[in-house]
Amino acid sequence: MAKREPLPIIVFISGNGSNLQAIIDAIDSLSLPAKITAVISSKANAYGLERGQRANLHTGVLCAQDFANRHEYDQALCKYIEQFPCAYIVLAGFMHVLGSCFLQKYPNRIINIHPSLLPLYPGLNTHAGAIKNGDLEHGCTVHFVNENVDAGPIIAQTSVKIRAEDTTSTLQQRVHKAEYFLYPTVLNWLANERIQLREDHVLMDNIPMPQRGLRFVLNVI
Ligand code: GRF
Repeated sequence: MAKREPLPIIVFISGNGSNLQAIIDAIDSLSLPAKITAVISSKANAYGLERGQRANLHTGVLCAQDFANRHEYDQALCKYIEQFPCAYIVLAGFMHVLGSCFLQKYPNRIINIHPSLLPLYPGLNTHAGAIKNGDLEHGCTVHFVNENVDAGPIIAQTSVKIRAEDTTSTLQQRVHKAEYFLYPTVLNWLANERIQLREDHVLMDNIPMPQRGLRFVLNVI
């Protein structure tokens, strides 16, 4: 059988870029057959840019505040990334909501990681919300991006138990570790063409997934 080419992806970041790092590490260790063709940041001071440069990746910065409105920003972003091969756009802490012109150009080809078990806790401050509500578990979700923020079809989730002594920061640290496992895992499925999206339904190996995707439970992290 002919060897598959590595999956070309562009990673969008705005900050620390630790998920970007997890993806770089998975590629370097040959456990993820992908190639990052560019790292794009919406913030000039994002530490993730340094991570990208250290890995010899192309990095670019496009700041939303340099454009008159969201539409213009999206158009500039679209234009800028045209030069890079791209099967999927991978949002990894990208703090900008992509508009419809962008989504239409990359239909079903944008994925995001969110630090909660969606549909619980869309938006910000998810860890504090879960602790405040006395939840027993929290986690992260990888989903396709559509026009509804944090509400696109779910591919997979990883849950972690919330401990009595957890603070926002200790819980966030454990959820981060779950993210570093989940994102490369899902990208691997995409690289091996195991995931399809049909009418908002996620299929894996042609089998419809549960509504909230495939669920991993990480106990000891
Ligand atoms: C992660 O928690 C991710 O789930 C969310 O933003 C955070 C990004 O962290 N979308 P990092 O920049 O990858 O360290």
